[in-house]
Amino acid sequence: MNQALEIIRLLGLPKAIRIKKRFDEALPHVRGYAVCSCLWALLETGALDRLLAAESVTVDDLLAAGRLDRHVLESILSYMDGLSLVRVEGGRVAVLPKLRRLMDEPRGFFELTYAYAPVFARLRDLLNKGATYPKDVQRLGKYVGRGSGQLCRTLPYPVMVDMLRRHGARQVLDLGCGDLAFLFFACEAVPGLRAIGIDIDPPTVAYAREVLAASPYAGRIAVRQADMFDLDAMARERPDIDAITAVDTYHEYLAQGEARIVGLFKQMRARFPKALLYVGEFCKQPHEKLRRRPTAFLEHHLYHDLTNQVIVEAGRWRAMFAAADLQIVEEKVFDMVGHGYFVVR
Ligand SMILES: C[S@@+](CC[C@H](N)C(=O)[O-])C[C@H]1O[C@@H](n2cnc3c(N)ncnc32)[C@H](O)[C@@H]1O
Repeated sequence: MNQALEIIRLLGLPKAIRIKKRFDEALPHVRGYAVCSCLWALLETGALDRLLAAESVTVDDLLAAGRLDRHVLESILSYMDGLSLVRVEGGRVAVLPKLRRLMDEPRGFFELTYAYAPVFARLRDLLNKGATYPKDVQRLGKYVGRGSGQLCRTLPYPVMVDMLRRHGARQVLDLGCGDLAFLFFACEAVPGLRAIGIDIDPPTVAYAREVLAASPYAGRIAVRQADMFDLDAMARERPDIDAITAVDTYHEYLAQGEARIVGLFKQMRARFPKALLYVGEFCKQPHEKLRRRPTAFLEHHLYHDLTNQVIVEAGRWRAMFAAADLQIVEEKVFDMVGHGYFVVR
């Protein structure tokens, strides 16, 4: 109390209040950076999942399992203890409910952001033309797949699977399958469904193989490294494919012009004439709307902008289907979450 009075005596009440308010306003921004950095370090070293897997673990076990630096680990844990994310007592660490909640549905948000951490680490160089994306800086493909897989479990996968089920899909080809999160979700929900997932990124495919081997779906899902623009062999080998799904994959090519995607749609129509196309894609939110309600789509648009990925409005997707002579069989666009789902043939 005396300390507060001394500050007010020195600065005057209005100035003291103003400064306090401004620091309070600044803190979430700075803290977001510090918390993310700590969580990512724990994530990448495996310490985060070790912590989450148990009620509590000893600091020594964490150190030994991850071959970590004691001082750095203790600094991180002490900071997180201060934020009531973990509790560190008597050499043991316990995860508190706040961290468990953050690592539940929103975990994908942290992982997707981590995928773009290398871009943010070089943002100054990108800004002053000392580096360009993707020549000098790359995002972490594995975490693009993992983060987006976890985020999509909330709404996109349930919507897509509902569509697959109602249209009687049996043999799915998933383009840009990432860590196979969508195909796991689909196989769990639709008995008898079989699938093949392709992805162009070798580390992502290696990771997908790992998780597939440890999953109960190894007999129903196959994964392959392949380019969705080169599906001739797949079409010859698998004429039984009746559903071609892609969740948030096509937009990665829109920077090269819509014609590239229209060409791909035409190719698929010719190679897989019996298959329905299930498209789950971002539908751009007007900037004015985001300004009024700055949802996570602001970050999402930023990550895409910085890595030259173009996001377009729902109307542009409809125009691309029309240009490829595809008809929309079903459509659901959720403005609230900036995502649209289309079944086309
Ligand atoms: C945003 S992620 C979406 C991942 C996944 N569909 C999901 O639901 O989480 C896009 C994925 O498409 C993959 N990809 C990009 N270009 C591709 C191509 N030409 N052929 C196959 N996969 C591609 C990327 O490697 C990445 O894993």
